[in-house]
Amino acid sequence: MSIKFNQTTKSITLHTKHTSYQMKIGNLDYLLHLYYGPTIRDADMGYQIMQYDRGFSGNPYESRNARTFSLDAQPQEFTTQQQGDFRTTSIEVVNGDGSYSYNGKAVDFKITKGKYQLDTLPCVFANDEDTVDTLEVTLLDTISNVQIILLYSVFEEADIITRAVKVKNLGEKSIHLKKIMSVCLDFLNGANFDLVSLPGRYGQERQVERQKMTHHIHTIGSVRGSSSHQQNPFVILCDRNATEDYGNCYGFSLMYSGNFLTEVELDQYDQLRLVMGIHPKQFVYEVKPQEVFEGPEVVMAFTEYGFTGLSHLYHDFYRSNLCKSKFVKDVQRPVLINSWEAAFMDFDDVKLVNIAKAAKKMGVDLLVMDDGWFGKRDDDNSGLGDWVVNEKKIKCGLHKLVEQINDLDMKFGIWFEPEMVSEDSDLYRAHPEWAMQIPGRHAVRSRNQMALDMSRKDVQDYLIEKVNAILDNANIFYVKWDINRSLADIWSNNLPADKQGEVYHRYILGLYRVMDAIIKTHPDILFEGCSGGGGRYDAAMLHYYPQYWVSDNNHPIDRLKLHYGTSFVYPISSMGAHISDSGRLVPLKTKAVVAMCGTFGYELDATHLSEEEQKLCKEQSELFRKYYHIIFDGDYYRLTNPFEIGNMTAWQHVTKDKSESLLSVVVTNLTCNGPQEYIHAKGLEPNAMYTINDSKEAYSGSALMNAGIPINREVPEYTAFQFHLQKQ
Ligand code: GLA
Repeated sequence: MSIKFNQTTKSITLHTKHTSYQMKIGNLDYLLHLYYGPTIRDADMGYQIMQYDRGFSGNPYESRNARTFSLDAQPQEFTTQQQGDFRTTSIEVVNGDGSYSYNGKAVDFKITKGKYQLDTLPCVFANDEDTVDTLEVTLLDTISNVQIILLYSVFEEADIITRAVKVKNLGEKSIHLKKIMSVCLDFLNGANFDLVSLPGRYGQERQVERQKMTHHIHTIGSVRGSSSHQQNPFVILCDRNATEDYGNCYGFSLMYSGNFLTEVELDQYDQLRLVMGIHPKQFVYEVKPQEVFEGPEVVMAFTEYGFTGLSHLYHDFYRSNLCKSKFVKDVQRPVLINSWEAAFMDFDDVKLVNIAKAAKKMGVDLLVMDDGWFGKRDDDNSGLGDWVVNEKKIKCGLHKLVEQINDLDMKFGIWFEPEMVSEDSDLYRAHPEWAMQIPGRHAVRSRNQMALDMSRKDVQDYLIEKVNAILDNANIFYVKWDINRSLADIWSNNLPADKQGEVYHRYILGLYRVMDAIIKTHPDILFEGCSGGGGRYDAAMLHYYPQYWVSDNNHPIDRLKLHYGTSFVYPISSMGAHISDSGRLVPLKTKAVVAMCGTFGYELDATHLSEEEQKLCKEQSELFRKYYHIIFDGDYYRLTNPFEIGNMTAWQHVTKDKSESLLSVVVTNLTCNGPQEYIHAKGLEPNAMYTINDSKEAYSGSALMNAGIPINREVPEYTAFQFHLQKQ
């Protein structure tokens, strides 16, 4: 068992292969957090907590005259509310009697084999070969009768611990949750932490930012109704001196696609508290007597081996325990061509077939028909919601079009944006009440479209029926699921006035229900998520889709940063990356090298390419297939940081057995008559010999890692190099 209870000290320790996590049923039965970090074997960490009389920090009444116990200075697994802890909280609840307070004490715990489940939200899962144990601790506030169930699953081999929270109302009146955080992690000494997050914007998602923790609450979150382009539900807490290769790093990845919040507070005593969960903005959730509310899962990891060590833990875990699609492990992803940047909405069946014919010559396996094939959709002002083929454009009908593509020995894919509706659509005309709009006010427009009220079951059922009807009517291999605006006008016509604070979360629950229903009935379809590029790229989405479109920004030099940032947590196999016309000064080969740090494909009009270019593309598609196992199943290393001024950006994939590696370099800047530059490989076997691109000579892993590979600097700007290292 990876979870141990010590009867004498009342501590519970969670052990993964290299880490330990400890808590204790402490003073007055509060559940105290004792430790998370490198393994501590059977040590009891209770000795770490010192008690002092802390002025202006309240003491629980039961402490009587002992003034040294204050929740304001205790590390906790789940906080109280209004009990003398003035730091940020796990919970804000309005009890049945109108009081704002929570005082949960540990009343029970159990340890079981296997992974816990959530009924309403996506979770990671255990495979047969995984050793997974679960701890469930129950806290009870005996005055309000509100029960908190804290769930922990320990993935021993993977060095991963997941957490989630359930709130059960055992009282006789409804309670209203205004804040419920899935994780609370307290560090007794937090003065030397940095926080790393992935902020961005449309076209520049997941750029990397690192900040020193100072004495206030640092917040990372989204209130856009989606996890957003602007922030990502993933953060790292690391030592101030942590680097790519060394230093303590804690990762927190939230499995949720809606409004989220991470708060990191460095308090008056240099203690650090991190909480993460659903954003409390406009969140008031009623939990009726006997009902249970579930908060989303947080996937936590710890390593002493810097950002690379942490990324490897997440990449490995998310490649095996997050998404059940057969495309994750068993079936190779196709090389695709997408019609968007080739034709936007100006296409018909003939044009698509011509693009496919040209793409076939480029070694492409799959044609994706993007936006514009349905309803009345010649621009982005109309048609969303009418998921019926526009036979003025697809004159032969969808079935026949797919047949023509299949006859070329290619597969066919299609685009949807199910959550949205245009005012100029048959759906809106028939059901204006399905669009979110605050009564008496005009809706906020964004790309001239409105969001459907995904909290409604009738809307969910409509979408399941319409999307399935298309998928069942033709031989569809791939679906791109898009959403192209942030949510505003949060209102559901289906809910009474006092339940409008539930709409943001109910939207996400409805979305998950629709996705689940469509994906489960189409296990053979490859799904790719998208939100105006990479606007909702989060772990929950990757539970449903094995891949996600990184960004609408296809410029290969910008992509270096986009791929770098995304790779901190999400595996390379999840990163949708294409070659497009963007970046006209950048050679086609460089674009291909960059797109090979992802799912690889094209986003251009293949009929416009010369025969020579088509031939080069074919070679690149073949190389992608040749290197697929290194890129998709190997370990990924960031060799340089594209956010720092330098002349080249480099990264590397290494197979798990270290027998092969693909090292890629893009020259982004050349200084006149500058020094020779060397790229240092990582992750090789030091004593093994490797050839480079079938060279006659072989070089030791140690030489390649310590002395590096010299990069020829007498090359045009934006030249790319790809070194295939083969162990002898
Ligand atoms: C979004 C996507 C693009 C494309 C368009 C279609 O912007 O990110 O790839 O699908 O929508 O409208």
